[in-house]
Amino acid sequence: GDVAVVVPAAGAGLRLGPGAPKALRLLEGEPLLVHAVRRIAAAPSVAMIVIAAPPADVDAVHTLLADVAPVTVVAGGAERQESVAAALAVVPPELGIVLVHDAARCLTPVSVFERVAATVRDGADAVIPVLPVVDTIKEVDDTETVLGTVDRSALRAVQTPQGFRASVLRAAHAAAADSHTDDAGAVEKLGLPVRCVPGSDLALKITRPMDMAVAAHLLTLPAP
Ligand code: C5P
Repeated sequence: GDVAVVVPAAGAGLRLGPGAPKALRLLEGEPLLVHAVRRIAAAPSVAMIVIAAPPADVDAVHTLLADVAPVTVVAGGAERQESVAAALAVVPPELGIVLVHDAARCLTPVSVFERVAATVRDGADAVIPVLPVVDTIKEVDDTETVLGTVDRSALRAVQTPQGFRASVLRAAHAAAADSHTDDAGAVEKLGLPVRCVPGSDLALKITRPMDMAVAAHLLTLPAP
């Protein structure tokens, strides 16, 4: 394998309601992070997995994953991008491709990891898995009055894993002053192209309580 997967897993998950850090919440008896790492480790391209854990849970996460896959665990930061930077710092230079994957997208199939990695290997600097937008999207003002309807055919909903030539991701992080919600956003600011590949409905981000119910049902389906 030539790929390092960096997993930001240090978020509190407040939108899920009170409880443990999101990556450690249980889905059918196992933490989201365990579901995620099992799938990442099954991808043939993957040579290294680095988890950015909540600082108080670094040892617990290491123990939790001991029987799942070989992983490196670092302490995450207050912002997602700080967590990614902390994990990126321990990826050795010989791994030329880095994928950044949210622990919250814990049911992402192996095929998506391989598609993103293969597209970087073919020469793309940055690759994101996307889905078409199904809802009609309105732009509104601060009084919730509609300003207009956005042409959804030109919009994409973005998932993870996002894949990068390692040097490009390092440069993007070094240059990013203000915060961004995804790593490809930092690459866009460098003026470099970001390529889209098909994502997967199974790569949904567990964010709100209903997502847990959906994910539990998805686990009952045959593996893709
Ligand atoms: O909050 P959100 O769902 O956008 O978080 C996306 C991912 O980033 C989650 O896997 C979360 O654990 C991670 N994260 C992190 N460090 C933070 C905030 C979020 O690793 N400080």
